[in-house]
Amino acid sequence: MLGALSPVVSTGLQALGALSAGCFLLSFGTVLLKAFVLPGISLKRFGAKKGAWAVVTGASDGIGREFALQLAKAGFNVLLAARNPEKLATVASEIQSKVGSDIKTQTFVIDFAHADDAAYEKFTTALQDLDVGVLVNNVGKSHEMPVDFVETPAEEISDILTINIKATLRVTSAVTPGMVSRRRGLVLNLGSFAGAAPAPMLATYSASKAFLATFSDALAAELGPKGIVVEHSNTYFVVSSMSKIRRASAMVPTPASYVRSVLKSITPGNQTPYWSHSLLAYFMGLAPARFVLWYTHALHKDIRKRALRKKEREAKKA
Ligand SMILES: NC(=O)c1ccc[n+]([C@@H]2O[C@H](COP(=O)([O-])OP(=O)(O)OC[C@H]3O[C@@H](n4cnc5c(N)ncnc54)[C@H](OP(=O)(O)O)[C@@H]3O)[C@@H](O)[C@H]2O)c1
Repeated sequence: MLGALSPVVSTGLQALGALSAGCFLLSFGTVLLKAFVLPGISLKRFGAKKGAWAVVTGASDGIGREFALQLAKAGFNVLLAARNPEKLATVASEIQSKVGSDIKTQTFVIDFAHADDAAYEKFTTALQDLDVGVLVNNVGKSHEMPVDFVETPAEEISDILTINIKATLRVTSAVTPGMVSRRRGLVLNLGSFAGAAPAPMLATYSASKAFLATFSDALAAELGPKGIVVEHSNTYFVVSSMSKIRRASAMVPTPASYVRSVLKSITPGNQTPYWSHSLLAYFMGLAPARFVLWYTHALHKDIRKRALRKKEREAKKA
């Protein structure tokens, strides 16, 4: 076929083909290297085993609980924040029994959906004397189930925005001045695939996570030169009560495997640390945006149908 073209055109097409193949190999190779080979920044840089603290929001369950456990094992004292004092105390004593009394824990009870200025002042005071090396902005809220925006309860919209955006900003502004003065720190923001591409029927959650991705990139540029690493961790499904997925699979890790992958690959900027999530993100990036939108919408319609059926069954049983 190429033989029928002029030698110049044919050589040009071959060069173009080789260039695209080269670009594909380079970008895919980078994804594989990041997922399986390249190490991240060592947690020692943020004060592990030197008395530094990790602050974890939403630390009583799911991914946050696992960050608290693994950061304690890595040598950080841990301040755990969430609403339920009993659940927080259980995680704190789990840390003490698994890691030992060399690691200190503190719990801070706060409802990020309703925290006022006084609550944030108390939070800032609690941090005052702590050398905070790591902040995990983990707390987040999604919709109870996929739902069209017009049918979303006003309280759900308000809570999602208040927790995912306002709380993240207020906690970050309470923690980062200390990090800047010490010229060291890690701010880890828990992102979602729903923020990387529009997610119909999770519109508010999706937009709040897109906010977080943009905020993280801007903050990373501001704080990088001051010695602080800001990472936004792009996440697909993880087993948890938020995802309502109970069984782990190749695409849906347990919180323990997910958090392990984050902590061993710390890199500034927008990252997708879990190996299968990073492959999915790569191929989603190659697919036409309209296809991704259509697929996500269809997936959420299906999840809603099944969630409503489950609710009906439970109502009949009650
Ligand atoms: N799981 C997934 O598939 C997935 C996927 C992508 C992104 N993410 C992100 O990962 C993060 C953690 O999700 P997860 O699945 O681990 O959630 P989860 O299992 O539901 O845990 C949420 C944690 O946040 C706390 N929390 C909830 N509402 C709060 C409030 N108003 N004030 C203070 N604390 C509150 C909960 O404890 P209390 O009830 O004691 O307050 C709990 O410790 C979120 O930002 C989420 O968007 C998760």
